[in-house]
Amino acid sequence: MEQNHTLTESDNSPFIQTNSAAIRIWHWLTFLFVIALMITVLLESTVLNQRQNIPVVQAELQKKGVTVNNNQALAVSHLYAEKMWDLHKLLGYALTFLVLARIVIEVTQKKEEGMKFRFENALQGLQQSGDNNKDLLHYLLVRISYSVFYLVLLAMATTGMLIAFGSDLGISGPVRHTIKEVHGIFQYLIYAFVAFHLVGVILAELKKAKGIVSGMINGGK
Ligand code: HEM
Ligand code: HEM
Repeated sequence: MEQNHTLTESDNSPFIQTNSAAIRIWHWLTFLFVIALMITVLLESTVLNQRQNIPVVQAELQKKGVTVNNNQALAVSHLYAEKMWDLHKLLGYALTFLVLARIVIEVTQKKEEGMKFRFENALQGLQQSGDNNKDLLHYLLVRISYSVFYLVLLAMATTGMLIAFGSDLGISGPVRHTIKEVHGIFQYLIYAFVAFHLVGVILAELKKAKGIVSGMINGGK
């Protein structure tokens, strides 16, 4: 039986495209590990914060009749913060692996699904349509934001690995401190991307690109 299909706005959206199985698996694993890393940072700066837990340790020991000074209490609260950082490191190794896997996917996947092809294709389309195709311009900006995000992810993985293994490479003191600071500042770019990305895909799904989210699950088109 012939099916009636009315052409909708979403059918013409440049955002409705195919996603290889490799990209989909990569995407959802990256989603899980980035969220898990963010949770470790959140826990470390709240319930497991070593400074804020000094009075907690002191009060607990006081109940058992033991009085300890700030330094002694810090030795205990620090231990739990360290455990969370150990978990952060493990999750970080997994994310570093995913960053490398993304590079491998890029060079091995079909040309039409590659970042360069999609970027050039949109640029060409934009030039042909007289530079005023709002959808293509939007698509191009989103592709650029992904490229920037990949660079930030690479920077997080590099600085994270340098903090983790720096002492073996002779990196210590002010250099290690600076690397840690860069790692700490770049975290905000990750949060900004995740926030914009979530709002972006939800709006796209609700408005002009229905099926964009399922496309990241079933491959699309
Ligand atoms: C979503 C990505 C990530 C976020 C948001 C994040 C965030 C952070 C933050 C806020 C700190 C504390 C920095 C400071 O004290 O100044 C930190 C420390 C650290 N991060 Fe990450 N990070 C991420 C990915 C990674 C990756 C991929 C690695 C790779 C192994 C890594 C390894 C480390 C290490 C070793 C530390 C030091 C922990 C310690 O003080 O013992 N991180 N991270
Ligand atoms: C930590 C959270 C997340 C991160 C780091 C992330 C990262 C990314 C990246 C890097 C891409 C570009 C992939 C490419 O190279 O083509 C992408 C695409 C996409 N993501 Fe996410 N993502 C996250 C969460 C989510 C969630 C929760 C959803 C669904 C509700 C989602 C839906 C999509 C969709 C539909 C695309 C394709 C959009 C397009 O082609 O422009 N993402 N994501």
